[in-house]
Amino acid sequence: MESGKVFKKISLGGMDITLRSPKIEDVDNLMANFNALIRARKYVSTEKEQTRDESYKWLSKCIQDIEDGKAVAVVAEISGKVVGMADIHKRSAPRMSHISDFGISVAEEFSGKSIGTELLQTAVSEAEKVLKSRIIMLTVAGPNKPARHLYEKCGFKTVGVVKKGRIYYGEYIDHVLMANYLRKD
Ligand SMILES: CC(C)(COP(=O)(O)OP(=O)(O)OC[C@H]1O[C@@H](n2cnc3c(N)ncnc32)[C@H](O)[C@@H]1OP(=O)(O)O)[C@@H](O)C(=O)NCCC(=O)NCCS
Repeated sequence: MESGKVFKKISLGGMDITLRSPKIEDVDNLMANFNALIRARKYVSTEKEQTRDESYKWLSKCIQDIEDGKAVAVVAEISGKVVGMADIHKRSAPRMSHISDFGISVAEEFSGKSIGTELLQTAVSEAEKVLKSRIIMLTVAGPNKPARHLYEKCGFKTVGVVKKGRIYYGEYIDHVLMANYLRKD
């Protein structure tokens, strides 16, 4: 899939939004959004702000995985700025190649406007088509209510909870495992 490929253009609450695959030029926007979520102590994967080098490496790898057919990703762009991203990576173990892992973030000032819902649904539908995923899995912090609500609304079910399985600023909190079975057979 070519980088920057447009999946769809939508309008939400008066905002024109392009949902497309990421480009390396998105790196500064994505880094700024992610680091702002860290500063706001949101439930993202790390507590350490990312350097430009780390962000560049992470995005290059993601784009390479997309080109190699191992991942799909969708960014939401508004007026030339990327405000959110969802990515789904196929598991590399051959016996688990029907499973893919999901991640998402939306810039705080754009949260609660259905952008997360659109990103998730577009990414899952691409994963079904391109990666031939049958099961999408994710992990989420127990107290992350907005994310858990979004996932349940979009078909994910809790399949396990590791009590005190995450560290959040020195406290142990629950680590919740969710799965979305895309096919019934
Ligand atoms: C979680 C996240 C991706 C959601 O994105 P978003 O664009 O705000 O999502 P949406 O606007 O599509 O809203 C999703 C649902 O959550 C609901 N919601 C919002 N805040 C909520 C809260 N505090 N408690 C419960 N539900 C909440 C919304 O009402 C909406 O439900 P509805 O459609 O039934 O009304 C975004 O908040 C985010 O990036 N958070 C920080 C990073 C993060 O937590 N990533 C996930 C890690 S697992």
